[in-house]
Amino acid sequence: MPSSEQILKALEVVIDPELHKSIVELGMVRSIDVQPDGGVDVVVSLTTAGCPIRNHFETAVAEAVGALEGVTRVGVGFDVLNAQEKSELQRRLGRGSLPEGALARVSNIICVGSGKGGVGKSTITANLAAALAGEGRRVGVLDADVWGYSIPRMFGVAGRPPVSAERKILPLEAAGGVKVMSIGFFVEEDAAVVWRGPMLHKALTQFLEDVDWGELDFLLVDLPPGTGDVSMTLAQLLPQAKFLIVTTPQPAAQRVARRSADMASKVDLEIAGVIENMAGFVTPSGERFAIFGEGGGQELADELDVPLLGRVPLTMPLREQADAGVPLVVTNPDDAAAQAIRQVARGIVAIFPVQLPVLQPAAGGPEAIAPAPEPSGMTLPMA
Ligand SMILES: Nc1ncnc2c1ncn2[C@@H]1O[C@H](COP(=O)(O)OP(=O)(O)OP(=O)(O)O)[C@@H](O)[C@H]1O
Ligand SMILES: [Mg+2]
Repeated sequence: MPSSEQILKALEVVIDPELHKSIVELGMVRSIDVQPDGGVDVVVSLTTAGCPIRNHFETAVAEAVGALEGVTRVGVGFDVLNAQEKSELQRRLGRGSLPEGALARVSNIICVGSGKGGVGKSTITANLAAALAGEGRRVGVLDADVWGYSIPRMFGVAGRPPVSAERKILPLEAAGGVKVMSIGFFVEEDAAVVWRGPMLHKALTQFLEDVDWGELDFLLVDLPPGTGDVSMTLAQLLPQAKFLIVTTPQPAAQRVARRSADMASKVDLEIAGVIENMAGFVTPSGERFAIFGEGGGQELADELDVPLLGRVPLTMPLREQADAGVPLVVTNPDDAAAQAIRQVARGIVAIFPVQLPVLQPAAGGPEAIAPAPEPSGMTLPMA
């Protein structure tokens, strides 16, 4: 009768078709139980309960173990990796998100944050998304401000997102083909969302794992103000994300923004750059007022040793369009604020490499490139 070690060795031939590695190497063999009568029970841990490759594992494990001498029966059971085990697996894979998640086809994730509220994160996120789409990039926006969501209004999209045949939530599409997802689509208008702790974690995880984002060059994540739960959760879920900091020009704001930079570095998120918003106001006669002071963005960028990606002036149309539901860069690309944001978009395109996260050449040369895995079905959206 084989020992547990021998069975584990035999299980090395069972390959996870999505992760292209043995379930032994991936640490997915939860338990091996050898009975005196030659019966063997193996429990395999899956990344998600609804894992579509369950049958594959069942057959492959039964075959591998059944071939061993003395084995009279093979029982294959399943359970699901807990959050900690999943992140351990992610670490072992050397990547942030599991390829079976829809985010496997998202090249770059950019979180837009600030130390405090009302500095224009959401306005900048929406316009930046539209500007990147205008540059021919495939863009999604995740409104991670679960309490004060404003992205649906800024894009003029509303309604309940449809669910695909694969039981994935489909983002709504806004002007320019920008894919938008927000908690605002799932709650009554203006209803207060009071999620905290595990619920919050679950909601954000669903937005990342259960939404069929498809192939995106950029997923912009509009963070709530501050450095609270959402930012920490996202940093944990998205270790590959980069951080963009929005600040206003006055030194006090810069100090507050610095806190969010500290948070980003504490959780190991790389800061991609700083955007200074509300950088002066130019009157129709050409007179310029530095309403919120000067130079804070540059100072913060210097301090963090990252680029200042742009200085967006205060303009009335930027605010009006945010309220009207079509980003200003779409309706009036020549407005001073729109121009500044388009410049930021070009800077982002320049600093973010074109990544092919899933299309890594498999052993056997470039012809053997593995196809991008389809997103797998999970539980239905919160509703
Ligand atoms: N450069 C600008 N010119 C004119 N109005 C602006 C500018 N930037 C932002 N606004 C306006 O300021 C208000 C606050 O902006 P926004 O909601 O984008 O900030 P926020 O940082 O996302 O806020 P919160 O922290 O509440 O999420 C909005 O009414 C927006 O239209
Ligand atoms: Mg906002």
